[in-house]
Amino acid sequence: MTKTPTSRVDKLLGSMGYGSRTEIARLGKVGGIVLDGADLTDVSQRIAVTPDLSKRMEIDGEALDPVPGLVMMLNKPLGMTCSRKEDGALVYDVLPDRWRRRDPAISTIGRLDKQTSGLLLLTDDGDLLHRVISPKKHVAKVYRATLARPLAGTEGDLFAAGGLVLEGEDKPLAPASLEVISPTEARLTVTEGRYHMVRRMFAAVGNHVEALHRERMGGLVLPDDLAPGEWRLLDAAQIDLIFAAEPIAR
Ligand code: URA
Repeated sequence: MTKTPTSRVDKLLGSMGYGSRTEIARLGKVGGIVLDGADLTDVSQRIAVTPDLSKRMEIDGEALDPVPGLVMMLNKPLGMTCSRKEDGALVYDVLPDRWRRRDPAISTIGRLDKQTSGLLLLTDDGDLLHRVISPKKHVAKVYRATLARPLAGTEGDLFAAGGLVLEGEDKPLAPASLEVISPTEARLTVTEGRYHMVRRMFAAVGNHVEALHRERMGGLVLPDDLAPGEWRLLDAAQIDLIFAAEPIAR
């Protein structure tokens, strides 16, 4: 059994972006921190850091933010970037301001291009991040692609065979599966996470991706009721789902 982590209250709140230790001590003194309905004035006390803390603790009359170890899904809108190196609004801009000051910081699990929409996971849990992106875990990523030209009909077999080498690379691609939805629409399932991978796969067969949307990661599906720009925390069962689906047969 894993031991429940504990932390001093001032250290925990500081790491969650609520202010410096001095500011948090002051907040405790004026009744701004409430735990289980009672004022918590001694911020040097240690408490168990469990996910239910955000239901039990209030800061300035508002529920505590989720404690470290959070995982969330965002329906990434078109035009937002995952990288500070690119121009434009960042996916992190949809989160509350205070969350930018969290340590450990929240980062995206892999990336979607600026012009790709759909399921994007974010976390402050480095181990989980590495497990999801690890090639050994074969987490399936399912994309719906709208194409500029009709499919030739041979793409599915070519992708399924594996071995396609993308321009500028030496390492062949792992097998991927293609489901044709219409002559110019397809669902592509890949287990790797290479740069602009789906767009480059279709470019390799003489086509061009006009719109790209990620629908699923592993067994976790982007819900219909999560609008572009909206995000939601994942519970333990949803996190397990990421690793649940069968990898592509090879
Ligand atoms: N493949 C792409 O080309 N773009 C993405 O954003 C994700 C996969």
